[in-house]
Amino acid sequence: MALAGRQVLVIIGGGIAAYKSLELIRRLKDRGARVRGVLTAAGAQFITPLSVASLTGEPCYQDLFSLTEEAEMGHIRLAREADVIVVAPATADLMAKMAHGHANDLASTILLATTAPVLIAPAMNVEMWKKPATRRNLEQLKADGIHVVGPGAGDLACGETGPGRMAEVPEILAAVERILDAGPRPLAGVRALVTAGPTLEPIDPVRFISNRSSGLQGYRIAEALAALGADVTLVSGPTNLATPADVRRVDVESAREMWQAVRDALPVDVAVCVAAVADWRVTSPAAEKIKKSRDGLPALELTENPDILASLAALPAGERPRLVIGFAAETEDVVRHAAEKRRRKGADWIVANDVSGGAVMGGARNRVWLIRGDDTPEAWPEMDKAEVARRLAGEIAAHLAGAAEAEGSA
Ligand code: CTP
Repeated sequence: MALAGRQVLVIIGGGIAAYKSLELIRRLKDRGARVRGVLTAAGAQFITPLSVASLTGEPCYQDLFSLTEEAEMGHIRLAREADVIVVAPATADLMAKMAHGHANDLASTILLATTAPVLIAPAMNVEMWKKPATRRNLEQLKADGIHVVGPGAGDLACGETGPGRMAEVPEILAAVERILDAGPRPLAGVRALVTAGPTLEPIDPVRFISNRSSGLQGYRIAEALAALGADVTLVSGPTNLATPADVRRVDVESAREMWQAVRDALPVDVAVCVAAVADWRVTSPAAEKIKKSRDGLPALELTENPDILASLAALPAGERPRLVIGFAAETEDVVRHAAEKRRRKGADWIVANDVSGGAVMGGARNRVWLIRGDDTPEAWPEMDKAEVARRLAGEIAAHLAGAAEAEGSA
């Protein structure tokens, strides 16, 4: 379970064992991890970038100074977005670079820039493995908190026998899982509710009113809260997304169904309303398909839908979630409108996002401001929706921990 939804960066060094890393990527993906691959120049002598890209489903990252790669995914982002980095095979040269803090290619720069845990799976000739220089580097890496798996002993590709064989894929997987499992679970025991996706309001049996929400941001938030140990219910309008790991999902269509499912999920400690709830529904949807008529256009009478965020925020103390968070999709004067929306709806926090230009709804990235109370809005840099989610989950955990501490000392 530890791997589901986690971002694993696999750095493939130059060794004959590189072919095993392709298998490693497949197995990581099988377990639900999202995998990015970095191939060193030496690694590319053994396997092709195309294999890595095909298996990860993302570009294979190779160059530190590639304009296109830097524009799409800078080395700092590769380093920061990883939950864990696996170096497999870790050659003697890569280990030496890591031990000495070199940053002269993409792999070594990422390894220096990351704050994520790093696992190395060394693989090299037995004499190289035994050399004092490699022993020193290994000791240094261990002292620096780098995790090591293998190497195993046996026949080496170079024809010699002894230690130097890269650990087998199941051993590497188990090591990665151990590292991720050990992660902090600050939201253990916290009940969270997330609404996501569009709602769909029928006009007649075949037509409806809806919007462009993909549900992605809400799903990533549900996933990020679950990854920190929260017990998460995701109430979702129609989407094409897979249910995140360890999340209870309730599917609904209309706003009224969503409100009912939300009430059924109470009580919760935290509610994050990300759904793009249709503001109006057709007052009386037709029982039969509406026919084109000679009398002109059909008139659609609309009724306002329940406001789920505002209703949650207005629940009496005891029933109200301790933290009610909304999203504000705005196209102009984003922060002012969002701050005003927070007050109007009674939410504790609101995440303002700029949906002008059409790239956010349905897109993978988001640019947001976090507005807590009447404090100055915090502008977050544009990032992946998954990263926005992890950061928000972190803020929620910090807030609840702070609140618990305040209660304890009161
Ligand atoms: N929301 C909700 N129920 C509704 C409408 C909105 O829970 N019926 C929530 C959304 O999930 C989001 C927040 O309210 O967290 C703001 O949604 P947004 O669409 O930006 O605001 P609207 O209420 O639709 O306001 P407006 O159309 O005036 O921008």
